[in-house]
Amino acid sequence: CGIVGYVGGQSALDVVVAGLKRLEYRGYDSAGVAVLADGGLAAAKKAGKLVNLEKALKDRPLPSGSTAIGHTRWATHGGPTDTNAHPHLDNAGRVAVVHNGIIENFAVLRAELAGRGHDLDSETDTEVVSHLLAESFSSCGDLAESMRQVCRRLEGAFTLVAVHADEPDVVVGARRNSPLVVGVGDGESFLASDVAAFIAHTRSAIELGQDQVVEARRDGVVVTDFDGTPAEVREYHVDWDASAAEKGGYDYFMLKEIAEQPKAVADTLLGRIDAEGALTLDEVRIPHSVLREADKVVIVACGTAFHAGLIAKYAIEHWTRMPCEVELASEFRYRDPILDPRTLVIAISQSGETMDTLMALRHAREQGAKVLAICNTNGSTIPRESDAVLYTHAGPEVAVASTKAFLTQLVACYLVALYLGQLRGTKWGDEIRAVIRDLSRIAGEVERVLETMEPVRALARTLADKRTVLFLGRHVGYPVALEGALKLKELAYMHAEGFAAGELKHGPIALIEEDLPVVVVVPSPRGRSVLHGKIVSNIQEIRARGARTIVIAEEGDEAVVPYADHLVRIPATPTLLQPLVATVPLQVFACELATARGNEVDQPRNLAKSVTVE
Ligand code: G6P
Repeated sequence: CGIVGYVGGQSALDVVVAGLKRLEYRGYDSAGVAVLADGGLAAAKKAGKLVNLEKALKDRPLPSGSTAIGHTRWATHGGPTDTNAHPHLDNAGRVAVVHNGIIENFAVLRAELAGRGHDLDSETDTEVVSHLLAESFSSCGDLAESMRQVCRRLEGAFTLVAVHADEPDVVVGARRNSPLVVGVGDGESFLASDVAAFIAHTRSAIELGQDQVVEARRDGVVVTDFDGTPAEVREYHVDWDASAAEKGGYDYFMLKEIAEQPKAVADTLLGRIDAEGALTLDEVRIPHSVLREADKVVIVACGTAFHAGLIAKYAIEHWTRMPCEVELASEFRYRDPILDPRTLVIAISQSGETMDTLMALRHAREQGAKVLAICNTNGSTIPRESDAVLYTHAGPEVAVASTKAFLTQLVACYLVALYLGQLRGTKWGDEIRAVIRDLSRIAGEVERVLETMEPVRALARTLADKRTVLFLGRHVGYPVALEGALKLKELAYMHAEGFAAGELKHGPIALIEEDLPVVVVVPSPRGRSVLHGKIVSNIQEIRARGARTIVIAEEGDEAVVPYADHLVRIPATPTLLQPLVATVPLQVFACELATARGNEVDQPRNLAKSVTVE
């Protein structure tokens, strides 16, 4: 969910609604606002996207005031209805609360409140907080203190932001696990899930720590822990380019983000290769001795980032000769994984806030493992809780389906694999140097792919009425196939599955029927030529059974030509780097199919970009 709070000289509602627009990627199944005005509190909330709320506010404007909070929701407890939308008020309508996360002991608290005569009318876990705050406030008369008292009673992960009509110039926030950033302006203060909500107003920010409460007023903020002990705050400067978060002439953020990939890839390499062509990753603040002595790598991630991890495994094992496991973060800690101080855990996350990944890394650190985060969001929770971080420099990614962040995650994974190989001095020294050279040219190859995408778009439009598309790949092409299928599910809402092409004969081949589109990612005919021959056979097998083959193959690969109903050319690259160019047509394909099917590209149904619940 996305949260915004504001106190200052501007129309608080305007600031909050504009901030919510920037946060809509975090969830968009309902939205709401509350404003303090004329000694009271007024609220409005609506199921559906933010435009519904905006329309409601236009039809029935709320009074204007200088303190307001707002929320855009991704439903956990209770369906996406007007009633379940945030903010939640107490019975007297004096307190309003917005919340991100899950309050695990809400049922007990709810029963307790009901016993004391409170009337709770939503199905959410959040509502208990507004009632508890109202009770505390009536005895102590201080909203920040009430928030501390209430937080001490809450279990689970949460960010809370609240206002009280009796303290009209105060917004109070609290955080445990879920993100909350404070924006410090001139005569105004902001609270938000992400700096994107306030960079139009201020670039001075404070990251709220775990178990802290912030009291924001026009003239500044006070941060304490849940017991009231003042906390040290560190202000930092947000250097994101605000225009980078705008669409810049594209119809969708996703199109813009796909187009930005060459730059994102180049930026992620910038400053990390020295004049001699060696990697310099001094920012990875894990002692070299630890990296040399590590005996195993474990990668944890979710969604698209997990696919980056699957590709990283091929690179890490090849260049470092260390065993590497890749696991879905949501499964990881529940199977009691074997970890010790010689395990290097890599947590990959665009947002740096994915709760499943955060919990996995915490588990790893508890077992003594060292954690390296690969992350795109400065100062987010996952890098802050890791031993070291390698930032991807994709810039803000707004479309829910990840594109440029994925490519930069791949770059970061290659960098880590090559760096470990370089440090540990494996027999691949020469190859490593050669690949570093190839990597430094790869942004140009991604650009070339983008220039040739029109036939892919045209093909996608012809498939808009299909129900299923399958994706096949081998070696690193297999995770690329999985990513292609995920993009299609997320965006086109089509049944799509990725398979290892060699596994086809063990089951999935039964799915092949007349005219079924099957996308095949073909490995380079150089390098892994054995694999290449095998996949050419796989293409023949499915074609013989009626599949419509969409073949993604290197320029100059003539062996596939007779079996490709549609041929998409990608530049020749070293095998391990091929995903950087092979993924791009699949992104374009899914985006175009989604458009052809009339779907919302940037905000697909049921999804959220940053999922801060487990
Ligand atoms: C969500 C998004 C996915 C994303 C995944 C992991 O489910 O919809 O696109 O890949 O989270 O996100 P992260 O921020 O950790 O990379």
